[in-house]
Order: sequence, then C-alpha cells, then structure tokens
Amino acid sequence: MIKIKSIKGREILSSGATPSLEVKVVLSDASIGVASVPFGASAGIHEATVLFDGDKKRYGGKGMLKAVNNINKKIAPKLIGQNPFLQKKIDQIMIYLDGTPNKSKLGGNAILGVSLAVAKASAQSKKVPFYKYIRQTYRLKYKNYKLPKPMIVVIEGGKHAVNSTDLQEYMITPVGGKNIKESVRIGAEVYLNLKKVLHQKNLNANVGNEGAYAPAGLKNNESPWLLIMQAIKKAGYKAGKDVMLSADPAVSEIFENGKYNMKKDKKKLSSRQMIDYFKTWVNKYPLITLEDPLAEDDWDWWPVITKELGKKVRIVGDDLTVTNPERLKKAIDLKAINAILIKLNQIGSLSETVQTIEMAHKVGFWSIVSHRGGGETNDTSMIDLAVATNSEFVKVGISRGERVSKYNRLMEIEDEVR
Ligand code: PGA
Ligand code: ZN
Repeated sequence: MIKIKSIKGREILSSGATPSLEVKVVLSDASIGVASVPFGASAGIHEATVLFDGDKKRYGGKGMLKAVNNINKKIAPKLIGQNPFLQKKIDQIMIYLDGTPNKSKLGGNAILGVSLAVAKASAQSKKVPFYKYIRQTYRLKYKNYKLPKPMIVVIEGGKHAVNSTDLQEYMITPVGGKNIKESVRIGAEVYLNLKKVLHQKNLNANVGNEGAYAPAGLKNNESPWLLIMQAIKKAGYKAGKDVMLSADPAVSEIFENGKYNMKKDKKKLSSRQMIDYFKTWVNKYPLITLEDPLAEDDWDWWPVITKELGKKVRIVGDDLTVTNPERLKKAIDLKAINAILIKLNQIGSLSETVQTIEMAHKVGFWSIVSHRGGGETNDTSMIDLAVATNSEFVKVGISRGERVSKYNRLMEIEDEVR
C-alpha cells in the first residue's frame, strides 16, 4: 500500500512581501505534492484562522513559523503512514486534531497547505492531472469539463489600494470568447485599453494588490464603470454582449455603526439605501454578478436584495458565506444569495471546499473560485478545483505573476481537455 512518507512545511514569501507557507508531501512511491496557501487583505471575520506569529520582530508580526511548526511537529506525526488517497479522512484527522470551529489552534493555513499537498502528491501517484484527481476522489458527477470563464478585476480600491474607491473591485467578465484563450485575450485587451483611457484622463494606472488599476482622484464610487465602458468600446468589444461587468463592493469593510460609509460620495447609507444604490448600477450597466453588496452579518437585508435584483444579476456571497457549508446552508434557507465565491483558505481544507461547492450547485447557484487579495502565491490549485467542479467563473487579476500563473494554468488545462 502506498503511504504518506513525509510532510514538510516551510515559510515562503507571498505577493504582499510578507510570508505565507508551502508544504511538500512525499509518498512512499516517491510521488511529490507541493502546495502553498494564500490569504486575504479584506478577509471576512467568519473565515478560518490564518495563523500568523504575532512576533513584531519578524515581518511586523506576520511571520508564519508557528503554522509551519504546527505542520512539522503536530500534523506530520499524525499523517505519516496514512493512506494518501483517503482525502476526506486526511482532512478529518486534521480538523479533529485542531478541534476548534475556525481552525484557530493549528491554523487554517497549516491545514489547507497539507490538505492540498497530500491531494497533489496523490494525483501524481495516480498519474492524473490534479483537476481529474479532485473529480475522481470526490466522485463528482459532472460530464465533460465546462471550464470556468475569467472574471477579471480591472479597477480596485477599498482595502486593496489607498486613495482609490471605497468599494473594492470593478470587474469585467468576457463572455464573448469562443473558448477560454479567447476570453482571456479579450479580457487582457480591455485591461490594456483601460490603461490608455486612464492616461488620457490624467489618472494613474499603477496597480494594486490584485493587479487591477487603482487610480487616485476618481470623482465617486460609480466613476470606474464609465472608464471601463469606454475601455471595452476602445478595445473593439460590445459591453453587454462580448463583455459583462461584475462588482465586488466588499462593503463589510465600510460598514460602521449600522451604516455604509461611502466616503467618496460623502454619504452614509442604510442597508435599504445601499440596495437602492446598487439598483441604479444594475439598471445602468450590464452587470452579471454583484458580490458582497451588504455586510457579512447584515442577514436581514440579503434576502431583500436577492429578491429585488437576483433575477437580473447573481448576488454572490463571499464574506457572508466564507466557503463554509453551515453559512451557505443558512444563506440557502433564507434565499439570501444565488451564487457563492469560493476561496480554499476561507474554510481551510480541500474536502470542505468541495462540499460547499457541491451544496451550492445542487440548488442551482453559480460558484466562482477566487484568488486572494493580500498574500497570493503562485499556487494554481484554485484553477484545478474550478475545473473539477465545473465552476462558472474564476476570479483573478490579469497582471502580476501570482495572478497570471492562474490563467496560464487554465489555458494549459484547456489544451488538455479540448
Ligand atoms: P481578499 O479580497 O482576498 O483580500 O479578501 C478578495 C475578495 O474580497 O473577493
Ligand atoms: Zn469579495
């Protein structure tokens, strides 16, 4: 029988110039799996814990040696010798060993790193691509590979860039391409034309955390859409046909004392007013998804926005649902959303992530597998996961190495399955 032979965690650098961690798993047949985990800058409060060291003398407290130590000293001894192909059991052992609801003892980062590295080593042992291994292991019943379309952040603000908008992400979703490579090309062309539009208006086109532009001096939180609409036209495409729009205002970040503080608009909005604000967007622009339009615990108003706007645009839970099956169940019961953002590290294991996606698909929700804003790595597991589960979109920026590695993996897979 093939067994897990070794598990080794180490600290690496993430895209934010602070550490993340990488895990290498070796099996008894010499198969190797390496995975690294990202984390967010505007993480939801209900996410699995990202265990940082808190030692201010190293990386301002953001070191990951504690999590690395948990991998090497606490998790490894429990998993070495185990059958690597029993992925659910592997994840369950770690969840049990941690014993907390939010993986705060060992760290969601430590557990996820091991979870993914074991799965990748197993895929290598079985000589199948990672996406295929995920599909087989969880007995997912999809026919063919649909391949997720790109959802590309092109203007960013909020926690991801200073001096830009209060709202976090303005995105394009090229739906007009006849395949993924074409969709990626359309997205990149619009992105580069947006740079020209910004320069014409004397706005800077430096990029923020996610590879999107973060211009200072925009008039208000709606201004990005006008620039993006111009860029789509300038690139030779039709908004609403070739290219749709997506928004992630991530308004948990601006929710203060029961109001949404839209500083750029000099307004503090109630939940009702926030919904009406987004209603004007939906009526004016070809939006296809609207993510976190309300705060992560503003539960009363989520069913209202989904009832009022959910037929025209998919209402996506991110901070609301944090890839957590329990929070998703609540959202389903309340009819709070009709799509879900998926981030592996929000819940902290491969098995639970797949469980959440399957739960969402069962009720007809879209799933959108996403990169992270703060500390991304070059790991491309999220793409294989999206392919395995026939997710509708992958949300990733289209510049910066840690983002383009994702699109390059997606295009590589397209060559394999088409
Ligand atoms: P984060 O942002 O990774 O910084 O949390 C991304 C998002 O909110 O979708
Ligand atoms: Zn989000």
